Amino acid sequence: MQSLPEHYLPGSNELTALTNNHKKVILEIGFGNGDNTTFLASQNPNALIIAAEVYLSGIGSLLASISEHSLTNIKIFDKDVRELLLEVDQEIFDEVYIICPDPWPKARHHKRRLVQHEFLKLLAKVLKKSGTVYISTDWDNYAESMQEEIERTKDDFEFKKISNEGMPVTRFQERAMNEGRSISTFLLKVLKK
Ligand SMILES: C[S@@+](CC[C@H](N)C(=O)[O-])C[C@H]1O[C@@H](n2cnc3c(N)ncnc32)[C@H](O)[C@@H]1O
Repeated sequence: MQSLPEHYLPGSNELTALTNNHKKVILEIGFGNGDNTTFLASQNPNALIIAAEVYLSGIGSLLASISEHSLTNIKIFDKDVRELLLEVDQEIFDEVYIICPDPWPKARHHKRRLVQHEFLKLLAKVLKKSGTVYISTDWDNYAESMQEEIERTKDDFEFKKISNEGMPVTRFQERAMNEGRSISTFLLKVLKK
């Protein structure tokens, strides 16, 4: 397994420098084992993929996949993605992917959920004109609250519910389907003039 610094993104200064060299920049948040990240990197060989995850074993899996598939366009940010995004003051991302964000099922923990109005506003700020956010959840209760939060952010995004056909099935999605839960997916498009 490789753990070379060349596969990591230290912070926002390096991000700005890197994005200047790429026409298309994709961000995946909470990539888990990197199933979808590997797919995105292979499908978009000329794009830069910023992959954020704090789960060490997942980062190890993605590094193994980078090595196995000789991928050169992924940079891993191994801290809370909000630390990075709060420091970015430019519109740099074309696409953002959030697949099966932690559901925090207990009502008293809902405030910890990532997909909330403030976080969506933060994404809108760093997206380029016509940029998109793909959000998929395997929990109906989170899907309902996501839709409410997205509707609260209607000044920044239009959205539709879509099927996730054509995308890889991630580890958490597979587990959900084995347990009989369905997947809800939203595609948001940023509204910028
Ligand atoms: C339920 S898992 C889903 C993993 C993967 N996307 C999948 O579908 O198999 C959610 C992941 O998001 C990561 N995560 C949660 N909050 C994060 C944050 N603020 N920044 C980066 N990663 C985060 C967690 O460490 C966890 O691995």
